[in-house]
Amino acid sequence: MAVDVLLGLQWGDEGKGKIVDFLSPSYDVVARFQGGPNAGHTLEFDGIKHVLHQIPSGIFRSNIKNYIGNGVVLDPVIFRKEINALEKFNIDFKKNLYLYKRTQIILPTHRLLDAAFEKSKADNKIGSTLKGIGPAYADKIARQGMRLGDIIRPDFKERYQNLVNQHITQLNNLHFAFELEPLEKNFFDAIAFLKDFNLVDGEFQINKDILDNKKILAEGAQGSLLDIDFGSYPFVTSSNTMTAGACTGLGVAPKNIGKVYGIFKAYCTRVGSGPFPTELNDATGEMMRKVGNEFGSTTGRPRRCGWLDIPALKYAIMINGVSELLMMKADVLDDFETVKICTHYILKDGSKVDYLPFDLQTEIQEPVFVSLNGWKSNLKNAKKYSDFPKAFADYISFIEKELSLKITLVSTGPERQQTVVL
Ligand code: GDP
Ligand code: IMO
Ligand code: MG
Repeated sequence: MAVDVLLGLQWGDEGKGKIVDFLSPSYDVVARFQGGPNAGHTLEFDGIKHVLHQIPSGIFRSNIKNYIGNGVVLDPVIFRKEINALEKFNIDFKKNLYLYKRTQIILPTHRLLDAAFEKSKADNKIGSTLKGIGPAYADKIARQGMRLGDIIRPDFKERYQNLVNQHITQLNNLHFAFELEPLEKNFFDAIAFLKDFNLVDGEFQINKDILDNKKILAEGAQGSLLDIDFGSYPFVTSSNTMTAGACTGLGVAPKNIGKVYGIFKAYCTRVGSGPFPTELNDATGEMMRKVGNEFGSTTGRPRRCGWLDIPALKYAIMINGVSELLMMKADVLDDFETVKICTHYILKDGSKVDYLPFDLQTEIQEPVFVSLNGWKSNLKNAKKYSDFPKAFADYISFIEKELSLKITLVSTGPERQQTVVL
């Protein structure tokens, strides 16, 4: 079977964890293909709320095989913590979790470097999650990273030390104070812990799964506007968050990609710095944050909030080849008198455009909004499309028309059952 891909169309935190969990009964395999512990994917079921960072969101279903792909940068220390936090769920990790040997390892010094780089920037800080993502991917691209398959090699420590010596020089040049010893002890304990897990040549396994007609879902992290190539560079993460990333991050050929689920919030959020054309720095934005509980799942930082941005969504749909649109957190707008949607931007040169310009920061003068009536009722109890109030049905239709694509699912709350398939 083809590999379906699920990814965020905005700046992350669209609700990917919830939807992977919701869709996973129809899949045999769930695979993470990029990112690392910068991700925080929340799942809520049976009154339990659980946040996953590196482990795929299929892990709670005992018949699903989960892969951590080569496109991921994995922090062994956080991995061990995540596994320990899952103890009460009695998961059989030998049966259900497989890590690609080609997956890159985040070292303690990658985290220190992430902090040192951020500290050294007077302004223009990225607002990184400080998990070492950028430095770990930099070493991968510089062809000097360490991979999970390396941990059993006799020269692992020697190679580690050579790389860390380089990092120490960089940290000293940045005048960044640090104490490495306790971090290293933790790191090597976590490396030993990892040796008990399935470290595999995942590219062969997943391609066998494809031939065996297994249904496979690739779980994206972050969002399209944080993509290293097509996001709001340099305020992005360091991986390809788009559909193409599922090919390179798992070893799957483009011809084997099937459906692409693009998921977006009924409004927008962004955590960290960088341009955000429809941001609301007022009471309306504050209300979205409060009602939507918009605080980072990984860092706890308040998320910036704003109205839905159609030019940005069109762009994300284009670069990803989205085939199904899924709208999340519609319930958060339940109490708004009026809801707005940005359809165009006025650029600094006075032109009105419906596409995303090269540099959001310097080229956009202001967004152009249309106002629609709010629905002023509780969506949380809706079970089917006909339960939706007219004003909300109009909100859906307006977006579908602008995007020339159908919305196939609406999420009306964090729990599994608060999901309406259209
Ligand atoms: P992810 O990174 O894309 O998986 O998203 P996060 O887990 O970081 O953030 C989404 C947050 O919204 C989580 O706290 C979810 O429990 C919550 N959530 C998901 N879907 C809905 C929804 O439809 N309505 C509401 N109110 N919350 C939701
Ligand atoms: P999920 O998978 C939202 C943001 C950070 C920062 C930028 C770079 O939960 O949607 P990094 O640590 O990657 O170097 O940070 O990217 N960021 C996210 N924002 N959701 C995420 O993941 C994110 N992962 C990174 O806030 O602005
Ligand atoms: Mg998140």
